[in-house]
Amino acid sequence: MAENGGGPRTRGYHMGEVDTVISVEEVTKQVEAMRSEIALETLDALAGHEPYLEIDNLHAGYGKMEILHGLNLKVGRGQSLCMIGPNGAGKSTVLHAIFGFNNVFSGAIRISDGPDKQDITRLSPENKLKTAGVAYILQDKSVFPGMTVEENLWMGGYLMDSPAEAKAAAEQVFERYPRLAERRKHQAKVLSGGERRLLEISRALVMNPDILLVDEPSIGLEPRFIDMVFQILDDLQHRDGKTILMVEQNAKKGLEFADIGYVLVSGELAIVGQGSDLLEDPEVGRLFLGG
Ligand SMILES: Nc1ncnc2c1ncn2[C@@H]1O[C@H](COP(=O)(O)OP(=O)(O)O)[C@@H](O)[C@H]1O
Ligand SMILES: [Mg+2]
Repeated sequence: MAENGGGPRTRGYHMGEVDTVISVEEVTKQVEAMRSEIALETLDALAGHEPYLEIDNLHAGYGKMEILHGLNLKVGRGQSLCMIGPNGAGKSTVLHAIFGFNNVFSGAIRISDGPDKQDITRLSPENKLKTAGVAYILQDKSVFPGMTVEENLWMGGYLMDSPAEAKAAAEQVFERYPRLAERRKHQAKVLSGGERRLLEISRALVMNPDILLVDEPSIGLEPRFIDMVFQILDDLQHRDGKTILMVEQNAKKGLEFADIGYVLVSGELAIVGQGSDLLEDPEVGRLFLGG
């Protein structure tokens, strides 16, 4: 796919006929050229004027290298936000920064519950999950292939006070997903791609998080499983009221799903809007939707 095609200068962003593929470098250049100053008020309005998870002027990266240059983000409770953008734009880095996987140089990450604001910038990943209700799903963290489905779910509860508590929480997840319960004694490595993705998501649900950070849920899946995964996420958002912050290379699926869309380029916001508005935006269409 994108990263493997052609030489280093000809990597395409989206799939398509050879002559319609635009290189990552070209997409980055074109989006940078049309980037304009995005007012905080705009982000606030998209979040329904009541942001739940908030990123304030974040500078973050790996080692000493800064990848995110003053990023702002706001998503309301029970909303979903999808970040799209060219490869290397820093989308995964945003999720890493929130969960505590990389270096934050300055800025803040907060969770607001009404007037109460909790600064979670410096919490360890364990405490993000255990006390702040933030879970990170996919890309860097995969299931344990040699363990059974149920053992994998129990692992999802390793931060709980006792193994019994973790097992009880795992049973609740099984009740919700009978398809997984049927496979509980199977090793994770024999699951189909779709079942494995369901297990990856389920494992994060054992801790009953409020906020799900989801990195490229559709990656590597056959189309029918892609729809299944988005249905699961839709259900988590609309039935359980989870707040979802997602990165998705499949921009069309991501923007169809999400209430809010952000286009990121070179570690900064370039375009923001309701997901449905970005889907209709001719420039977004041309650069990211293969239109
Ligand atoms: N673990 C890491 N260590 C050092 N640099 C990294 C690491 N992960 C990503 N980067 C760099 O950070 C930049 C942004 O990467 P990333 O956030 O993964 O982009 P995206 O998810 O938008 O494709 C890239 O230049 C990438 O090479
Ligand atoms: Mg990424």
